[in-house]
Amino acid sequence: ATDNNYVPFEFIDQGTDELVGLDIDLINAIAEEAGFDIEIEQMEFSGIVSAIPSGRFDIGIAGMTITEERKENIDFSQPYYDAGLILAVLEGSEEEISSIDDVDGKTVATRVGSTSEAYLEENTDANIEAFPEITEAYQSVLTGRADAVLYDKPNVEYYAETEGGGEIVTVGDLLQGEQYGIAFPKGSELRDEVDEAIDNLKESGEFDEIYNKWFGGSE
Ligand code: ARG
Repeated sequence: ATDNNYVPFEFIDQGTDELVGLDIDLINAIAEEAGFDIEIEQMEFSGIVSAIPSGRFDIGIAGMTITEERKENIDFSQPYYDAGLILAVLEGSEEEISSIDDVDGKTVATRVGSTSEAYLEENTDANIEAFPEITEAYQSVLTGRADAVLYDKPNVEYYAETEGGGEIVTVGDLLQGEQYGIAFPKGSELRDEVDEAIDNLKESGEFDEIYNKWFGGSE
């Protein structure tokens, strides 16, 4: 199970109409390395988080942050990507909102069911607008309906540089370090196989190749 609206991890290439991204390359490489076949189903992100525990899917890969709460119902692979949350605003309003300390009473857009939504609820008095798709959150900042957006740094930066056309800029520090893991139903035997495949891909350099393809150079 994966999503199709999360650059550059899983999204539809506008030119080819194909589902592409770091997660897609990674899960294909893992399947090949571990010797199993995969079928990919696309769905909305919060649907993945709730479908994995039910065992309806064997694997979920969707830039999913490993959290203590999710670990109650989901087994995660070893971490495969270091991320974190960053705030962004419309270019020109960096003075009004220069960090998370400035969002109380403002409208902040994000994605429903994400760690950013939880962060806003727990740490701010912002009016939270949580959308089913993150592109709607960016749109609402671009059109002035929301004052800021809070989301995962790699996605915000990728969007800002591509579709965002330089009109969306990040402000303040990384708010919460997070790590992405591949999700499995509790007790899945696939987890160890996948972890071993990730080790092998790291050793062979294939993991770095995939990383660099989407992020152009390791950080
Ligand atoms: N990392 C955040 C979370 O786990 C957001 C992930 C969104 N992923 C996606 N495919 N839309 O809550």
